[in-house]
Amino acid sequence: MKILAIESSCDETAAAVVEDGRNVLSSVIASQVDAHIVYGGVVPEIASRMHAEAISNVVAQALEQAECTMSDIEAIAVTYAPGLIGALLIGVNFAKGLSMSSGKSLVPVHHLRSHIAANYITHKELEPPFLSLVVSGGHSHIVNVKSYTEFEIIGRTLDDAAGECMDKAARALGLPYPGGLNLDKAAKDGNPTAYKFPRPKVDGVDLAFSFSGLKTAAVNAIHNAKQKGEEINIADFGASYISAVVRCLTENTLKAAEKTGAKKIVLAGGVSANSVLRTEFEKLCKEHSFELYYPELKLCGDNAAMVGAQGYFEYISGRKAGLDLNAYATMPIDKADF
Ligand code: KG4
Ligand code: ZN
Repeated sequence: MKILAIESSCDETAAAVVEDGRNVLSSVIASQVDAHIVYGGVVPEIASRMHAEAISNVVAQALEQAECTMSDIEAIAVTYAPGLIGALLIGVNFAKGLSMSSGKSLVPVHHLRSHIAANYITHKELEPPFLSLVVSGGHSHIVNVKSYTEFEIIGRTLDDAAGECMDKAARALGLPYPGGLNLDKAAKDGNPTAYKFPRPKVDGVDLAFSFSGLKTAAVNAIHNAKQKGEEINIADFGASYISAVVRCLTENTLKAAEKTGAKKIVLAGGVSANSVLRTEFEKLCKEHSFELYYPELKLCGDNAAMVGAQGYFEYISGRKAGLDLNAYATMPIDKADF
């Protein structure tokens, strides 16, 4: 069964054709990085306009590369929440038009569910239940994935997301957008014990994250050094900072796995591309006998193949939207109403 998938929640316009939730027949991504780089971050209005410009060609290319026409497609999956509202609306409206003209079903897909589903493409044997750490630009969740379409949040950030924390520190260090990726690269040969960062404490809320204190500590340290005319060693600073963020993520995830009795830990979202995060989880999961999964690098960031993967499982579970489908800037992963 072939699903045509569309993704436009942030700054990538993407379309893909995915068979049976696991096999990617095509995956096209038009990245807007060059347009946003001058602003140091995503400008929502520019993102929406660029999606509108790119989406028709991106979808046409995805069908062409998969050697498909709409008659080969069973259903259209589209990211409808959460994300930048103007950006989401472009994908949702395009999918609605296509559904109307082709008569194919419309399947609303939650963005974070699709990040988790990227793992079904990389690991053909992976099946729920498992525990997932979902770390993106806007979210940091520990999710109990009970089935392909049933989710329970068991830990979350009380303030900033891990990705936001990476991006802001990168920006303060003068690294170009996209911050997290460039910080990871710049920190590659750095000494992770060179700089000291506070250990966030979240009293009374089990399995919660808090990243805003770490982010503020980093930004303040950079500004103070600038004022005093002191040099910051970017590699060492980056490595120490990433190590502090990763420590929070690994500690709580392992604690959650032990608490829930999960055997499998699945990383998902843009931050799961981080090299230190992957290496640390590899080491700890080996020590504590958990099976570890994370997506191949090209599926960690936003793409439509993962939307096609989740869209397939949502569709076979009976999830279909009408032509009144709306987009939502926020939406919990466990409810995903539409
Ligand atoms: O999932 P994603 O592509 O978009 C959202 O849904 O938000 O995640 C983007 C986030 C950004 O904060 C970006 O800086 C971060 O993922 N990111 C990384 C790396 N690659 C992307 N953070 C750390 N290390 C990386 N290699
Ligand atoms: Zn994302």
